[in-house]
Amino acid sequence: MRLLLALPLLVLASCGEAPKPLTEEQSAALKPADARLAALYEGSCKSCHTVADSLAPLAGDRTRWDPRWDQGEDALLAATIQGKGGMPAGGQCFECTPDDYKALIRFMAGREEAK
Ligand code: HEC
Repeated sequence: MRLLLALPLLVLASCGEAPKPLTEEQSAALKPADARLAALYEGSCKSCHTVADSLAPLAGDRTRWDPRWDQGEDALLAATIQGKGGMPAGGQCFECTPDDYKALIRFMAGREEAK
């Protein structure tokens, strides 16, 4: 009986239907698949967006990103370029193009599949 109850939970967790908070370690283990983006990410966004004390939403943590994602990609891009709260303008990435920012935001928000 216990096994029968546990199975649907496992299925739910594995397809990510119900977002769960990530630990800093789980967040830090993620990186963009694209090598260039991964290098940009590791040189900038990652230093805050995997550290809870920075107050930045942890990369890959949909529980923290979904409410922000609801503002729309344009608003998130504008906030990154202008800076917001503890985030300096441009998120400390001096080589990032607007398309890089969009891809990095999608990656951190757990929306890489979104267009
Ligand atoms: C120095 C630390 C720092 C760095 C580096 C940094 N961020 Fe942030 N970021 C933050 C903090 C803190 C917030 C939360 C700001 C708030 O809502 O008050 C944030 C929030 C965001 C948001 C959500 C904005 C919103 O309107 O909800 C996006 C998008 C974002 N960062 C993208 C990036 C990207 C992309 C990079 C790398 C190019 C990056 N950040 C680098 C600290 C940082």
